[in-house]
Amino acid sequence: MNENKVTMVIAGLGGRGHDIYGQYALEHPDEVEIAAIADPRPDRLELARREWNIPPERCFTSAEEMFALPQLADAAVIATQDRQHVAHAGAALKAGYHLLLEKPVAVDIEGCLEVLRLARQYRRHVVVCHVLRYSPFYTTLKRIITEGRIGEVVTIQAMEQVGYWHHAHSYVRGNWRRADESSPMILAKCCHDMDVLLWLSGRRAQRVSSYGSNYLFRADKAPEGAAERCLDCPVRADCPYDAVRYYLESDRTSVRAGRVHWPINVLDPNPTEETIARALREGPYGRCVFHCDNDVVDHQVVNIDLDNGATINFTMSAFTERCYRTIKVMGTRGCVEGNMDLAHLTLHDFFGHTEEIDLNITDGSMAGHGGGDAVMVKQFVDLLHSGRDDEMQSSIEHSIESHLVALLAENSRLDEGRSLPVEL
Ligand SMILES: NC(=O)c1ccc[n+]([C@@H]2O[C@H](COP(=O)([O-])OP(=O)(O)OC[C@H]3O[C@@H](n4cnc5c(N)ncnc54)[C@H](O)[C@@H]3O)[C@@H](O)[C@H]2O)c1
Repeated sequence: MNENKVTMVIAGLGGRGHDIYGQYALEHPDEVEIAAIADPRPDRLELARREWNIPPERCFTSAEEMFALPQLADAAVIATQDRQHVAHAGAALKAGYHLLLEKPVAVDIEGCLEVLRLARQYRRHVVVCHVLRYSPFYTTLKRIITEGRIGEVVTIQAMEQVGYWHHAHSYVRGNWRRADESSPMILAKCCHDMDVLLWLSGRRAQRVSSYGSNYLFRADKAPEGAAERCLDCPVRADCPYDAVRYYLESDRTSVRAGRVHWPINVLDPNPTEETIARALREGPYGRCVFHCDNDVVDHQVVNIDLDNGATINFTMSAFTERCYRTIKVMGTRGCVEGNMDLAHLTLHDFFGHTEEIDLNITDGSMAGHGGGDAVMVKQFVDLLHSGRDDEMQSSIEHSIESHLVALLAENSRLDEGRSLPVEL
């Protein structure tokens, strides 16, 4: 390993590989150096090559090609699509890399166990990007619980408010719209929540049940006269999900308003009014939300029975204005509630004391999953530097249960909410 820096290769140069991990390397040149990159999309590869000054012979058109070569760096970031993670992680582990592996680890439990087996066999760190575990919001909550300030945790109620526009972007028009091409919504979006809620409870899940459906984004809910594409739609002015307004015209969210980062750059890596108009005419993000080929849910509830009789209740909904998480943890001596968007926690004990905790003031920047993205990468870099054997919070060893619970929740939802035991 280079004495001063950790070297990394990045497989997949999209929203995560390029915008998050690549950006981290750009902002922390003293910590991370990108040694090689891989992506089949020429525009993504070229953009990253130029930005990070990677020699052409270290730019690959697939992760497979890159990992077939002798090891090029200390660690690999696997930021390809959900169904590619097991194969790419396996190839990278065999080549000798430590991994920063995007969630979900796999779309089935066998895949998760395979990555775990290979991590043990090759004695490499595999850190799953369950970034919430590193955000000041959840680490503060965990500290409050661990210090016993609300007594024993009996009930956790949590909500993931996906945001109507984010849902339309990613889960109706975008890459996570079909479970067979990516993974069920409760795994793709909410394995984070399963992970962080179980971690906060400090207990193991015993049983799971779930309900939910795709309530709105289907042909039979289309407004009268709706066209196949928003650009052609005579009724789009009355549609909250109009893609032309969101990506092209709005004075808040669009390229015309100067927005060029996610989600606009998913339509085109070089967003201009012209490239975005073309993407709306020709690409998936210009489609009517009632006329897509999506099948994932737009709302789901999950109930988890823990091994000490405490319970977790989780709701995910597309139908919110903003995109954030809320939580209330109820214990035998107090309760604490939080709003991640406001970066704020309120702690009440049952002796009449209240404490307001403003995490913006305490912890500085809250960007990127409430600050979790950057903390996770920093800890990963520090771990590799240290040469220590210990595990990070979101090691593969600690990440399997969340995937198992999410997959069982999906099975329960498809089986009319049957209560299913959690066992490996
Ligand atoms: N940790 C989080 O909070 C978080 C947030 C969003 C997404 N994700 C996960 O991260 C992963 C990437 O998400 P994204 O938003 O960056 O998706 P994306 O579609 O923007 O990026 C994926 C990239 O992988 C590339 N790719 C496809 N096949 C490849 C191959 N064989 N070799 C190399 N690259 C290949 C694609 O061309 C694309 O550029 C997904 O699994 C997603 O579920 C995690």
